[in-house]
Amino acid sequence: MPDELTQNLLHFISRCPTAFHAAAAMKKALVYSGFEELPEENPWTVQWGGRYVVTRNGSALIALTLPAQPAGAFRLAAAHGDSPALKIKENPELCDAYYIRLNVEGYGGLICSTWTDRPLSVAGRVMTEENGKITSRLVCVDRDLLVIPSLAIHMNRSVNESCSWNIQKDLLPLYGEAEDRGAFMKLIAREAGLDDPSRILGHDLFLYSRIPGTVWGARSEFLSSPRLDDLQCAFAAFRGFTEGKKEKYICVNCLFDNEETGSHTRQGAASDFLESTLRRITEGLGLTYDQYKSMLARSFMLSADNAHGVHPNYEDLSDPVNRPVLNGGVVLKFNAAQKYCTDAVSAALFRQLCQRAHVSCQSFANRSDMAGGSTLGNLSAVRVPVPTADIGLPQLAMHSSWETAGVRDTADLVNVCSLLFE
Ligand code: CO
Repeated sequence: MPDELTQNLLHFISRCPTAFHAAAAMKKALVYSGFEELPEENPWTVQWGGRYVVTRNGSALIALTLPAQPAGAFRLAAAHGDSPALKIKENPELCDAYYIRLNVEGYGGLICSTWTDRPLSVAGRVMTEENGKITSRLVCVDRDLLVIPSLAIHMNRSVNESCSWNIQKDLLPLYGEAEDRGAFMKLIAREAGLDDPSRILGHDLFLYSRIPGTVWGARSEFLSSPRLDDLQCAFAAFRGFTEGKKEKYICVNCLFDNEETGSHTRQGAASDFLESTLRRITEGLGLTYDQYKSMLARSFMLSADNAHGVHPNYEDLSDPVNRPVLNGGVVLKFNAAQKYCTDAVSAALFRQLCQRAHVSCQSFANRSDMAGGSTLGNLSAVRVPVPTADIGLPQLAMHSSWETAGVRDTADLVNVCSLLFE
């Protein structure tokens, strides 16, 4: 039986098949505990002691708490709610004489092979008109609905030597038989509570894996699940934000969208979402631009996105010494080109925080001859120039549809975030 935190993590991930669901789940929990929603399209009234939540596009969220006494700095954490997936295109059905397949395209850098031969379904949002207004409805088809069958080895003799993937050819999921032509959007309409598919005016629908997360290993020390990148960090930072005392600073917890496609959207970390929210909050409190900028300079931000653990079968692909292990603690990421924005200053601040929280901290760097990935910290820090550390939890198989991490690491990030927000 997994510990309670791991159970909660796996439950959160299973309830959040898309970024829309992650933002909605967090908003629901915040509003339930008394946070006031500030719609971006209305003027805001804010005061010291207030607790607020702002969303953008239904897929990005910023939660803020203002202490009762005026504060002179922010404490921030950010993660992302999107994961690599296959996205359903317009006119989704591809029908031949026998079968219906769905027309999909890639979202983010997915490992294609991991989407085949497993139960899949569909989730996302649809837009419809209600009383003259365009409104959004979340959709999650909660049953095994689709499979992308791989090709038999007899028709692809080189499958175990090398394999290339063409999404338009190899990754179209099988949905039904030809007689059910037109059924897919009817199903989506029904799931959205709409009587007719013509009422769907727009959709953002993704395939998601139905394989549930699980805990395994000699002492049940590992967990595998879809979307650990980055829902494990998003969950842990949110839990730390909820548990932290939040008495001294303006505490800010962010969930951004579209990290997997580069963050350059209006709900991504490179947008003005965080900047505009902090500006509107500080102006609402009667603080000047000068005060806002001086507060930023006194602030600290954690950008939390999962990190590569050393793979036991491919140790040579990791840096000789900066190679995190699962269950070794939170990872601090370094990169000379500043794809990770950790520097000596933010590293020191983070290591001090880890020492005080009694949490182990490991360091990650790419091999010097490998490019590696990127994340959201450096993009966010351009708009909101706060000293920022890029951190994460160690995992294997990043961007697989079923990723692997350490059971004990989640609590470390919760503890360090809850101290950040103390
Ligand atoms: Co990530």
